[in-house]
Amino acid sequence: MSQTKLSIVDLTKRYAAGLEPAVDRLNMQVEEGHLVALLGPSGCGKTTTLRMVAGLMDPTAGSITVDGKEITHTPVNKRGMGMVFQSYALFPHMNVEQNVAFGLQMRQTPKAEQKKRVAAALDMVQLGHLGKRQTRELSGGQQQRIALARALVVEPTLLLLDEPLSNLDAKLRETMRTEIRSIQQRTRATTLFVTHDQDEALDMADRIAVMNGGLIEQFGSPTEVYERPRTHFVANFIGQANFLQATVVSEVGPAGAGESHYKVDIEGLGGFGAVGSAGLSGSHELVIRPHRLKVTVANAADRDAIKGTIERVSYTGDALSVAVKVGGKTFNTQLLTSSGDLPRPGDTAYLSWSPEDAYILPVNGKGPAS
Ligand SMILES: Nc1ncnc2c1ncn2[C@@H]1O[C@H](COP(=O)(O)OP(=O)(O)OP(=O)(O)O)[C@@H](O)[C@H]1O
Ligand SMILES: [Mg+2]
Repeated sequence: MSQTKLSIVDLTKRYAAGLEPAVDRLNMQVEEGHLVALLGPSGCGKTTTLRMVAGLMDPTAGSITVDGKEITHTPVNKRGMGMVFQSYALFPHMNVEQNVAFGLQMRQTPKAEQKKRVAAALDMVQLGHLGKRQTRELSGGQQQRIALARALVVEPTLLLLDEPLSNLDAKLRETMRTEIRSIQQRTRATTLFVTHDQDEALDMADRIAVMNGGLIEQFGSPTEVYERPRTHFVANFIGQANFLQATVVSEVGPAGAGESHYKVDIEGLGGFGAVGSAGLSGSHELVIRPHRLKVTVANAADRDAIKGTIERVSYTGDALSVAVKVGGKTFNTQLLTSSGDLPRPGDTAYLSWSPEDAYILPVNGKGPAS
C-alpha cells in the first residue's frame, strides 16, 4: 500500500498586500518514496513552494502535513528535512567533511556516529577521497555533490532539491541526474525536486507537478503529462507540440481508460479521427507531437494524407526536424535520419498521423488545478 508522505492543501504565499500571490492555493499529495519534480517556467513559484515546505518561509494560507502531522508553522530545525538550495552554497571556511557534518552537529549527534555517517554520505556521492579538501578547491560539480551529501547525511524525512544541477554543464548534468536518482531510490527518501528542465523531470520523476503562475496545472506521471496533457500550457511546456483548432463532430465509441474515439473537424483541413476523455463536445484544441507525424515525399498511399510544402529542414545528427506548410499552417515534424536523400525546402510532402496520436485537450485555456 502506498502512503502519503507529504500533503499540501491550498498553500498560498502573498509576498505583499496588493501583489499577485506567488503561490496560489496549491494542492499536492506526495507518496512515500516518490521523487516529485516541480516543473515550470521562471517565476512560477517553485522556490517559494519549496521554502514553505522547508519551513524557511511562512505561508499566507493553507497547510502542510508530513506523515499525517501538520507542520505548517513548525520551525525549520524541527522539520528534519534536507535541502539543497538553488545556489548550493557550501560553507567556505569549512572543509568537505565539516560541511557534510554540519547538520549532525546541529543535532548534537555523538562524534563517533558523525564520523561514520559523514563517511557513508561522502561515499554515496563518490567523493569519499576528498574529505579533507577545502570547498574552494572543488569543481562546481563536486561542490554540488557535497551539497547533496550534506542534505542526505541527516537522513531527512523529506529531501528538498532546488535546481541542484543548475550550474553544471550538459554532460555532468546527465551523470548527476542518474546519480541523484539512484541515491534517492537506494535511500527511498521522498524528494521534491525543482527544475525548469523538462527532460530532467521526465527522466527522473515518479510524478511531475507542472506549475504555471503559482498553481499546479497538472500533476501526474511523466507519461501522463506528456501523452495526456490537460491544457495547452502543459502540452507546450513538456516537449514539442503541434496545436490544431478542432470542433468535435461526434463521439464514436470508447477507447479505454475513460477515453473515447472522436470524429473532429479540424479548422481548414476537414474531418479526422482523434482521441480524448469521454464526453467532450464543442470546440477544443488538438495536440500532435512532431515525431508522431508521418511525412512522405513521394505520393502518399494514405488517402487521408494532407498535401503540403516543405518549408524548412534542420539536421541535428540523429534527427531531422522538418517544417511542412499546409495552407497557412506550419506543422513541425521530426524524423529519424536515414542515409537516403534529405527532403529539401520547396518539395511537396504528404502528412498523416494515426487518430490515436491526435489528442483532444480536455481543458481550453488555462485549466484549474487538478
Ligand atoms: N522576497 C520576495 N518578495 C517579493 N516577491 C518575490 C520574492 N521572492 C519571489 N518573489 C516573486 O514570487 C514569484 C515566484 O518566485 P519563485 O522564486 O518562487 O519562482 P521560481 O519558480 O523558483 O523561479 P526560478 O525558476 O526563476 O527560480 C516571482 O514572481 C517572484 O518575482
Ligand atoms: Mg527558483
